[in-house]
Amino acid sequence: MSLRIAPVGVDDPASIDAWVEVMERIQEYEFPYLPRRTRRMAELMLEHAFPARVVEHRLAWLDGEPAGRLEVSRMTEENLKLLFFTIEVVPRFRRRGVGRALFGEVLAYAREHDRTVLVTSGSLSMPDLPAPDEAPAAFAAAFGFTNTLPELQRRLTLAEVDEDVLAGMLSAAQAKAAGYRLVRWRDAAPEELAEGVAYLESRLMTDAPTGDLPLEPEKPDVDRLRRFEEAVAARGRRTFHTGAIHEQTGALVAWTTISADEETPRHAWQQITIVDPAHRGHRLGALVKVENLRFFRAEMPRVEVVDTFNAAANGFMVSINEQMGFRKLAAFQNWQLDLTKDG
Ligand code: ACO
Repeated sequence: MSLRIAPVGVDDPASIDAWVEVMERIQEYEFPYLPRRTRRMAELMLEHAFPARVVEHRLAWLDGEPAGRLEVSRMTEENLKLLFFTIEVVPRFRRRGVGRALFGEVLAYAREHDRTVLVTSGSLSMPDLPAPDEAPAAFAAAFGFTNTLPELQRRLTLAEVDEDVLAGMLSAAQAKAAGYRLVRWRDAAPEELAEGVAYLESRLMTDAPTGDLPLEPEKPDVDRLRRFEEAVAARGRRTFHTGAIHEQTGALVAWTTISADEETPRHAWQQITIVDPAHRGHRLGALVKVENLRFFRAEMPRVEVVDTFNAAANGFMVSINEQMGFRKLAAFQNWQLDLTKDG
């Protein structure tokens, strides 16, 4: 048996072909409910990097066949001890040491870049949401990972949305949201809102429940926001945003986004929704979310389903989603390994 690990390169079309094939084989087994990631999406991902983050991709070749993939991702301006990674092995090549070899690469990469906390996630079997198998948890346990945070993916089927429920949610929210006005935009934030968006975005990672994950907030930074927006657009994604402005101060205090990819025209993602802590209790989360869904549907009538992720512990957001009609689809576990602690 020969096992070789090699980079996936933006200027190496054969490596991209193999990489896309590996992702397809894994997706049809692990995530058959998601639209296929096309070769074009893969190329655009490699070509247009997000700011303040370095992402590298490698492929494992087993006896000359592409058998698995590794993605390592490290932030460069904060969270300097963390290394995020994904290891996926094509089902027919499993239990032959490919995952272990890719994990060896992760350890070497962590040493090279002085990262001491490894973070990843995998599907999780729950009684009402069975995963394809128990391999992720067994693999994580074999290498000493501890679970940090279960997350659920939920799906809203747009043909089944109950307009009366949404209208009821909106009027209940509006009754508590006097003194706030709504703003909407597509893609890049308007100049006058950019600072507010950068501030809210800097809270994104740490404001939603993160379990035991030692995450630092990002620094608010308009320049980084602009580079992020450019990368999103260059990757062929359209984004739709609704925010709430506190009229007295003019500050943007709530914000939500739905994103859609040109390559997967029937599918969209409800991204994170955030309300500034000083302005909670006014139903702004429900208000921006329901309004944004209406905005999005009018603009993108071909989309059929919208998926979202929530920490299982995020009761507040989960209850808004359930009320809107989002239903459980799959469960995931976040895993963590602190290399400075003895296992
Ligand atoms: N049942 C029990 N133990 C398992 C299983 C399983 N199905 N799969 C892996 N292990 C454990 C065993 O201890 C195994 O050692 P052994 O074979 O000597 O007993 C060890 O993990 C290493 O196994 P590999 O053969 O190197 O792993 P493989 O190439 O099969 O890949 C992986 C495992 C990556 C979990 C694969 O099943 C997969 O791609 N799953 C979907 C993606 C995913 O969930 N990735 C991992 C998330 S968790 C994490 O990365 C820490």
